[in-house]
Amino acid sequence: MNHLQMAHLLMEITVQPGDHVVDMTLGNGHDMKKLLSLCTDQGRFTGFDIAEEAIRRCSEIARLYPDYSIDLRHESHVHCDDLAPFRFAVYNLGYLPGSDKTVTTKADSTIESLTKLRAKIQSDGRISLTAYRTHDKEEEANALARWFSSQSLYRVYSWQRVPDDGHAPIVYMLTPEERK
Ligand SMILES: C[S@@+](CC[C@H](N)C(=O)[O-])C[C@H]1O[C@@H](n2cnc3c(N)ncnc32)[C@H](O)[C@@H]1O
Repeated sequence: MNHLQMAHLLMEITVQPGDHVVDMTLGNGHDMKKLLSLCTDQGRFTGFDIAEEAIRRCSEIARLYPDYSIDLRHESHVHCDDLAPFRFAVYNLGYLPGSDKTVTTKADSTIESLTKLRAKIQSDGRISLTAYRTHDKEEEANALARWFSSQSLYRVYSWQRVPDDGHAPIVYMLTPEERK
């Protein structure tokens, strides 16, 4: 099983028809298609991306699902304050494959958005986040690993290959920590 299949497995064990699901990094829409197949036309989908090309590609996908409630937002996921409560959110960090590598996720905004999502995630919800250590000299992946160890908003689990070759992506699963 690779990291993408692991993220999809987390979706499968969490998302039910009728759920609100969120893609924080739309990209080519592979995760979007998977989430739509699980939440069905009874649910709703919200997606963010800063890349115009990603929004164009995902708008084409959305046209194939005319009966679904799909909200594609051409803006950073830090603007997620007004999200409705959701069951599942996915992050697949980095840049749009085959596109401008400088249009990429950054630790500060990823962490800011994760902090905001805590107020919106359902108590039985999950967030999947895939971090790539081959990007940006591991800056974002390292900053996230540090933040996960120091914060108390989420209970965090990680999935990675053993032995660690230092390059393989890491899939994190976050569940909301009970408020004290
Ligand atoms: C690896 S791709 C995502 C792949 C996608 N999940 C899929 O299934 O095809 C990462 C995406 O994150 C987007 N991105 C980078 N910074 C972002 C931000 N602050 N807010 C939202 N999207 C962002 C990039 O433009 C890129 O399309």
